[in-house]
Parts: sequence; C-alpha cells; structure tokens
Amino acid sequence: MKILIFWDIYGRIGRKALIKELPGLQEKYAPDFIVANCENITSGRGPVLQHVQAMKEVGVDVLTGGDHVFDNLKSIGEYLDDTETSLLRPANFYESHTKVPGVGYKIVQKGDKRLLVIHMIGQVFMRYNVRNPFLYIDELLGSIERSSYDVAILDFHAEASAEHYGLAFHVDGRIGLVFGTHTHIQTNDELILDGGTGVIADVGMNGPLYSVIGATYASVQDRFLSGITKGKIEQSLDPRYVVNGVCALFDDVTWHCLSIEKIRLRDTL
Ligand SMILES: [Fe+2]
Ligand SMILES: [Fe+2]
Repeated sequence: MKILIFWDIYGRIGRKALIKELPGLQEKYAPDFIVANCENITSGRGPVLQHVQAMKEVGVDVLTGGDHVFDNLKSIGEYLDDTETSLLRPANFYESHTKVPGVGYKIVQKGDKRLLVIHMIGQVFMRYNVRNPFLYIDELLGSIERSSYDVAILDFHAEASAEHYGLAFHVDGRIGLVFGTHTHIQTNDELILDGGTGVIADVGMNGPLYSVIGATYASVQDRFLSGITKGKIEQSLDPRYVVNGVCALFDDVTWHCLSIEKIRLRDTL
C-alpha cells in the first residue's frame, strides 16, 4: 500500500500550490490513499467547510485539523459530526460534560485496501491540556478491531521531536507510520524502527516559502521583539511556495513500513 501525505496546508498559497502540484505527484507515485492536514488552510487558521471540500475534490481522502481544528467551528461543526466526515480532530481530548465535536480516527477503504488514520496531539509545548498520548493510543488501538484495517498511520501533531520518537517506539510494530506535523518544517530524519514502524518528526508545510511558517514577518515581529502577542497574524501571499510531503510504502502482508520518501518541491505560482 502506498500513501501520499501532505501537511499543514497554509492559506491561499498553500491551497493553490498543492492543487497545482498534486496531479503530477499522483501520476508519479500512484498512491492508494492521500491524506493531508488543513489546520492552517483558511488564511492561516483552521478550515472552513469550503476549503475542506476543495481538498476532497482534488483527491485527498482524509484530512486532519490539528490544534486549529475548531477555529471556524460554525462552518465545520456539523461536518465534523457527520458519520461520513473526512475531517478528523485530535483524538486525545478529554471527553467531559461538554461533548467534543468530531472524531479522532477513521478507517477508509478503496477496493480491498483499508487504511486507519489516527490523529493525536502532543503534550509538550502545546496549548491544549490533552490526555497522555502514550496511554491513550494503547486504549484506542485496543478498542479498534485489528481485522478491520490493514495499515494504520498516526498523525502526531506535536512540537517536540523527542515526543514523536518516544511515541513511535511506544507503538513500534503496531502502527505502520508515525509522522509529526505542526512545526511546518520538514525534518531529515525518516527512519524505520525494528518492529516495522516508520517515523518522521515533521512532514513539513505546504505554503509560502518566504514566510515565518506561513505568516508574514511584519505581522509577527512584535512577538519576537517585544514579546507582545496581540495583533493579527497575516498569511503571506508571496507566490514562491513549498510543497512538502512524504510517500510511504507498506508491505502488503505484514503492513509494516518499507520506505519513506520525502517530497519537497519549490516553485512560484
Ligand atoms: Fe500548522
Ligand atoms: Fe498546529
């Protein structure tokens, strides 16, 4: 099974860049599934429904929402709760008296191939207080019948690379690929562990190349110079873009990871 993975699609430039590059990448890799993260897809913030649908129309099978998933809840709340939804929110929020919208994992099927996509968020340097991802992934995998899917992949949306690697070792042999998202910077560390789990600390973003992880420097410089965090973060509309992703290949018998190929395309819209 072959899966193309694109993460942190950032604003207008990120949408246009991925839509432009996707046909060529589909032809080159002939993936069974395409997954992508859209936490910054709408002007650098969480998705509106129209942008989720735009990604579905160009062939993305499953999307995840990261820590920005609820930014435009009015637009996507109903879709998150739809049984046919393709948009996941992090699975390891605490369930309390207030129901958290949406679901954190999904099995998608094409022909005889079944992919389990799980989305979780980390605890280190992240803004949400979430359930321990190490303990929660054990609980989650224990609740999903192993015979109901072939390959499992985990989008572990987190800041610290040590947390990605700790979790990858924790699930080695149980999940096909643990890939990090959220930092927007692709890491050069792809590795397959002894039990067959592939890992990469961050897949990288799809968006404006000359930017501060997608935003203009002018709109965020006060945060660096004075520490003041007020003011709107503006998406960069510089047409020079980067499309980051990975193509992961899995064995059709063991469902272990066989290879992780990084994709990093740079061009101008
Ligand atoms: Fe992001
Ligand atoms: Fe994020």
